[in-house]
Amino acid sequence: LDNGLARTPPMGWLSWERFRCRTDCKMYPNSCINEKLYMDMADRLSEDGYLRAGYKYVNIDDCWATLQRDPKTLRLVPDPVRFPSGLKKLADYVHSKGLKLGIYGDMGTKTCGGYPGSKFTMELDAQTFAEWGIDSFKMDGCYSTTKDFSVAYPIMEFFLNKTGRPILFSCSWPAYMQSSDPDYKLIAKHCNIWRNYNDITDSWDSVKTIIKYYGDDKYNFSAVAGPGNFNDPDMIIVGNTGLSYQQWQVQMAMWAMMAAPLFLSEDLRTITPEARTLIQNPGVIAINQDRLGIMGKRVWQSGNIEAWIRPVTPVGSYAVAVLNLNDGGAQSGFNMTLVTLGVKGQDAYNLSEVFSGKALGKYTVSTNFPIFIDTNSVLLLKYTKLDRILKW
Ligand code: DGJ
Repeated sequence: LDNGLARTPPMGWLSWERFRCRTDCKMYPNSCINEKLYMDMADRLSEDGYLRAGYKYVNIDDCWATLQRDPKTLRLVPDPVRFPSGLKKLADYVHSKGLKLGIYGDMGTKTCGGYPGSKFTMELDAQTFAEWGIDSFKMDGCYSTTKDFSVAYPIMEFFLNKTGRPILFSCSWPAYMQSSDPDYKLIAKHCNIWRNYNDITDSWDSVKTIIKYYGDDKYNFSAVAGPGNFNDPDMIIVGNTGLSYQQWQVQMAMWAMMAAPLFLSEDLRTITPEARTLIQNPGVIAINQDRLGIMGKRVWQSGNIEAWIRPVTPVGSYAVAVLNLNDGGAQSGFNMTLVTLGVKGQDAYNLSEVFSGKALGKYTVSTNFPIFIDTNSVLLLKYTKLDRILKW
């Protein structure tokens, strides 16, 4: 969507994976969906280095509204017990920290959690969000039929645009059409980002199936990624309890390779320094945010080992991820070259390991790079093109 937003993949925080639809604030005062949760996360994003690293959206997901619209105005109403200050105030608070506020709704009659949907009130809802000072809208696809999608999503995009307020538009459209060839060109025309696949959960299996779906690139959705348009493999779960440190690295590396939105869904109040440092790794973020916005592709597989490549700046350079998805067992060792990954030519490159930033020397497309990689781990490399051809 060419609305000036998401020129690189958006970064921020989103409540769903970690906090779900928890509405019982008596029992769970610190983890229910209420204004305090979003204010706390805004504080952490702005004070703990995340905003400086690029994470600027604080995104509300499902279960923020009352079960009924206001009977007179028909407007959506935030739950008065859990959001006593109202969403305009929350937006003001978030903005005062230099951050942006996102909200959630649904194109059908109800949200997946059973709260009011926007089916008959798209213009009113867009206006309401704009009046509140909302900066991003995720529109889900529950309680509707997929044949309505190609009409309803563009209509909402039209009304969001009509408000005059820049509002990033996140669509769930193709996620509900995994077996019916979604029109990705149309989706990219009307949405900034879109979910292609199932919800992430805090498990290695979930992360692996997502990586496989994006590697398979069914319907060639990688082709429509670019500034303003990004495929969304769902939230970052680094800092939660389901994955090992190496598996966290896999998620960060692969989301960087995929030019994926980085929406953190963990409790930033209690996250470990180790997870926080990983989430803020400048080398990984630089690949994710590369201004060419090209989505990486899986180009090589051998058993459970696979390699992905993504063109990045300076033009002619590449990010490369080598993944060992074997379940347990010995470390794998083998040689790899850029030629194996489909790169040709006479260029020379400075090679570096991205997580550590360590320089590994000068390479041509055919110089062997010895790879040793543990199971359930990733090696993330960057081949930075040199100005001159290397003389041997
Ligand atoms: C389904 C979406 O895919 C999730 O990300 C989340 O928004 C839930 N619906 C909320 O009900």
